[in-house]
Amino acid sequence: MPAIDSFPEVDTPSVMVDKDVLLTNIEKMSSFARNHGVHLRPHVKAHKTVEIAKIQREMGANGLCVAKLDEAEAMAAVGFSDILVAYELVGQQKLERLLYLTEKVSITVLVDSIPAAKALSQAATSRSKVIPCLIEVDSGLGRTGVPPGKPALELALSLLKYPGLKLKGLLTHAGHAYAARNRSELELIGRGEAEALLSTAALLRQAGIGSAVLSVGSTPTVRISGAVTGINEIRPGNYVFNDATQVALGVARREDCALSVLTTVISRPTPDRIVIDAGGKTLALDRGAHGISQLPGYGLVKNHQGFVIERLSEEHGIVSLPPESPVTVGDRLEVIPNHACPVVNLTDTLYVHENHRVVNQWRVTARGGVR
Ligand SMILES: Cc1ncc(COP(=O)(O)O)c(C=O)c1O
Repeated sequence: MPAIDSFPEVDTPSVMVDKDVLLTNIEKMSSFARNHGVHLRPHVKAHKTVEIAKIQREMGANGLCVAKLDEAEAMAAVGFSDILVAYELVGQQKLERLLYLTEKVSITVLVDSIPAAKALSQAATSRSKVIPCLIEVDSGLGRTGVPPGKPALELALSLLKYPGLKLKGLLTHAGHAYAARNRSELELIGRGEAEALLSTAALLRQAGIGSAVLSVGSTPTVRISGAVTGINEIRPGNYVFNDATQVALGVARREDCALSVLTTVISRPTPDRIVIDAGGKTLALDRGAHGISQLPGYGLVKNHQGFVIERLSEEHGIVSLPPESPVTVGDRLEVIPNHACPVVNLTDTLYVHENHRVVNQWRVTARGGVR
C-alpha cells in the first residue's frame, strides 16, 4: 500500500512531521515532568526548529538545552531566555560568543576539566561576568564528563577557586542506554544515571558544596532517572519525534513516531529490489544512536511488511522486498528513520501535516549549526 494520499503537493524526498503525534509526544513528556516535580529542559539538537521549541515552552518546558552555540543563538534570537549549553565550550571564539550571549540571556555551561574551567574563568572575569556552570559526570557513556564521586568532588573544589564561575550543580547523559538489550538493562542504566548524580551530590554536600541542579536525561532513560527522588531536571531531546531506534528499544511504538521521510520508488530492477530516492543525504547513515549498530536496515518502511532498507548511497536507498509485493515505480513510501536528529539536520524544511494534508512548513532554524 503506498503512503496514504502520498502528499501529492510535496516533492520527494521530504521530511514530514505528523503534528498530532508531535503534540502528543510533547504533552506526554510535559505531564511526566509536572507529575514528578522536575524541570523539563528539552534538548533542541533533536529538532533545531524554533516552532517546535515554542510548542515545548507553551506546553510547560522550563528552559532549553543545546549542544552548540549556533543552536543557543538561534533560540535566543526568538526570545528563549534560559539556555543550558550541555557541551564543553573550548576555544577563544566560543568563549567570545558565550560572553556576548550572556548579555542577552541566562546561559549555563558544562565543565569537566581544569583547563576549560580556567579559560572560562579568565574570559568571565575579563568582562566582570559570572558564568553559571554544571559539572558533567560520566554515568557510563564513556564520552565527556568526570567519573562520579571523588573525581567530581576534586573538580568542584578546584572550580571554587576560579573567580567568574558559579557552580550550580551536576549533569549526566546516559547515552549508553541506546545499547540496552532489554527493559531490565534500560532500568539499570536509568537508575545508574540518577545514582551517579545523587552519590556525587552527597559527597559534595559533605564538603559544604551545594548542587542545586541535578540534571539527567535521554529519551530512553528519562522516565526512569527522572522519577528518582532528588533529581530535579530532565533533558530529553528525541522524544518529540521518536524514531526506529526508540521503537527497537521498546521506548516508543511505530505510531508514536512523528517524523518520517517521504520518498519515491525510482526503480525496480528486480522483483525483490526497489530503489528509493532517499539515500544517506536524507536518511542519515546511523544504524542506531551513538553509533551503536543494532538495527536491521536504515529505517522502517511504514505499512510494508518485509521491506528492508539494506543499503544507502548518497541519493539512493536500496530496499529488499517480497517479490510478490505490488509496489511499482512512482509509488511513494514513508520511512521512519533510525535516528531522527541527524535527519532533521540534513533538511531545510519540515513539512507539517494534519489529517494527511500539509498544513505548514517549518524551517529547521539551526540546521547545520555545528559550532
Ligand atoms: C548531553 C545530552 N543531554 C540530553 C540529550 C538528549 O538525549 P535524547 O535525544 O536521547 O533524548 C543528549 C543527546 O545526545 C545529550 O547529548
